[in-house]
Amino acid sequence: MNEIPRPNDLSAFWMPFTDNRYFKANPRLLARAEGMHYRTPEGREVLDGTAGLWCCNAGHGRREITEAIQRQAAILDFAPTFQLGHPLVFEAAARVAALTPPGLDRVFFVNSGSEAADTALKIALAYHRARGEGQRVRLIGRERGYHGVGFGGMSVGGIPANRRQFGAHLPHVDHLPHTHLPELNAFSRGQPAHGAHLADALEGLVALHGADTIAAVMVEPVAGSTGVLVPPLGYLERLRAICDRHGILLIFDEVITGFGRLGTAFGAERLGVVPDMITMAKGITNAAVPMGAVAVKRGIHDAIVAAAPAGIEFFHGYTYSGHPLAAAAAIATLELHRAEDLPGRARAIEPLWEEAAHSLRGLPNVTDIRTFGLIAGIELAPRPGRPGERGQQVFRRCFDSGVLVRVTGDIVALSPPLIVEEPHIQRLFGTLSAAIRAEAD
Ligand SMILES: Cc1ncc(COP(=O)(O)O)c(C=O)c1O
Repeated sequence: MNEIPRPNDLSAFWMPFTDNRYFKANPRLLARAEGMHYRTPEGREVLDGTAGLWCCNAGHGRREITEAIQRQAAILDFAPTFQLGHPLVFEAAARVAALTPPGLDRVFFVNSGSEAADTALKIALAYHRARGEGQRVRLIGRERGYHGVGFGGMSVGGIPANRRQFGAHLPHVDHLPHTHLPELNAFSRGQPAHGAHLADALEGLVALHGADTIAAVMVEPVAGSTGVLVPPLGYLERLRAICDRHGILLIFDEVITGFGRLGTAFGAERLGVVPDMITMAKGITNAAVPMGAVAVKRGIHDAIVAAAPAGIEFFHGYTYSGHPLAAAAAIATLELHRAEDLPGRARAIEPLWEEAAHSLRGLPNVTDIRTFGLIAGIELAPRPGRPGERGQQVFRRCFDSGVLVRVTGDIVALSPPLIVEEPHIQRLFGTLSAAIRAEAD
């Protein structure tokens, strides 16, 4: 029998994407949160420069969301959405559909970004099969793409470390080159000027595999997890045109760019390119209850439904697809977004954010700064032979000085709640600047 753990025993929880050995020797815990700040168990305040994990866009502890969850838990804890339903899930879907680009008005609920990615890929495959093109089984992702950790998202994703450990991936997957061109685009504000031609690699994959074998291309409009890669001007337009030319579906993974991060409801709107599907999660409930979704063009939905014989049309779903607490949280969150015009707030403060981020130019080891919407990526030169070490030390220094940043390797990625104000921005970049200076060696 296992021993009953001591209070404060950290051993049983196998932490995700964590250096468990380091963390458990040097724990950093967050116990409370409100507005722009976390609090540690000792009561120390930590300014949230990352909206949790790109997800608490409306700020923490929003009363309207908390109360909606509490109310719903007391009314209906759970109801299946397989062959049944409950009122809030339909309202939540309609509210999401009101925010997505015109035409993407069918919404499939899931519980996470990973599930959204796998669901979108399955919809693409089912769509082609429904239209008699079942040979379109190839899925195209992009280097440095992140689409979560399910087998679909992992395979289409382009992060070597996330794939190498597992060996077996989906077959029939290929990748476009990433769009990071620091030699041409360093210190870009907004969309970088160079790199639209990188979309033409899709024509290369079409030539290699045959368009009639390719079901879909999935990309993040702005790649977040691999260090803030903003799409070059014209790149997404070109990808869209090539997909259209060859009957390939284009999926935008908007798990981080959705819900105001780029100053619009979805990144598609800001970037002026409409995909065939959008995957989303995180900000949909302000992260108060796990939820994700796929918004699908009506024609894709209709093709799958029409082609099915009577009965279930799409053999996919999760027990918690559209869970009542998540639906309640989503409705309250989207109402807050509307009432407080959070995308508008993000747009209004973006110039100040951009200026503050680019003020770090010239600090030791800062090789690039990228900004778009309320996102910033600050790339640091790695220490020779010890990649990632400088980034980790900067993260720890910032945290110990009361500011939460995120690092991926030696890139600092920032994405504050959209309620951020000027003093928070000054504090965030002031602390980061001091940490970068302190790690100059
Ligand atoms: C673009 C993108 N897609 C998918 C995911 C995976 O989401 P989740 O961790 O909710 O499964 C993430 C998470 O950061 C993400 O940034």
